[in-house]
Amino acid sequence: MDMQEYQGRIKGVLITKEEIRRRIAEVGAEISKEYEGKPLLLVSVLKGAFVFMADFCRAVTVPCEIGFMRVRSYFDSTVSSGEVEILMDLDQDISNYHVVLVEDIVDTGRTLSLLVERLKQRNPLSLEVVTLLDKPDRRVVDFQADRVLFTIEDRFVIGYGLDCGELFRNLPDIAEYDVDYAAEVTV
Ligand code: PRP
Repeated sequence: MDMQEYQGRIKGVLITKEEIRRRIAEVGAEISKEYEGKPLLLVSVLKGAFVFMADFCRAVTVPCEIGFMRVRSYFDSTVSSGEVEILMDLDQDISNYHVVLVEDIVDTGRTLSLLVERLKQRNPLSLEVVTLLDKPDRRVVDFQADRVLFTIEDRFVIGYGLDCGELFRNLPDIAEYDVDYAAEVTV
């Protein structure tokens, strides 16, 4: 993708880095208050949540550990159930931790509902989900994150960790991807 198309594909900023920073400070303070004095493990699912995790964990002012996972989900197109394969797992037993899953987006809800079930089988002291973005209009399975920083309409979002074809993760704001972009033809 050349530079002209790269910039043309960025339709506009939906949520600025300042807005993100403010909400992270608020929710980080909530988490810090709720889990003070408790063994806390923040868990992120790569790759999308890596930018959010980096900022969110620094808004948590109580002691906490950080863990990462990579998963791949498979779904049957005719039913909403599926399976989640853990490609990279946590390197610790979570039974002695309060686990906060730090996700970038809940879309159909399939990934998170499956992952939460899998993690609950490992008997954490508690488990909750914090998501940067929630797209309730896209939901296929009944899943609700415990804390949502921003609820958005059904738009193709990129930036701040979210990608399109592995690009745009490094945009500092959350932007909309222009699916209809066409290079201008000059004659
Ligand atoms: C995104 C996001 C969630 C999932 C949400 O990951 O990080 O894990 O999709 O979608 P769902 O609610 O429809 O299940 P993605 O598969 O884009 O991978 P990435 O994080 O590596 O970009």
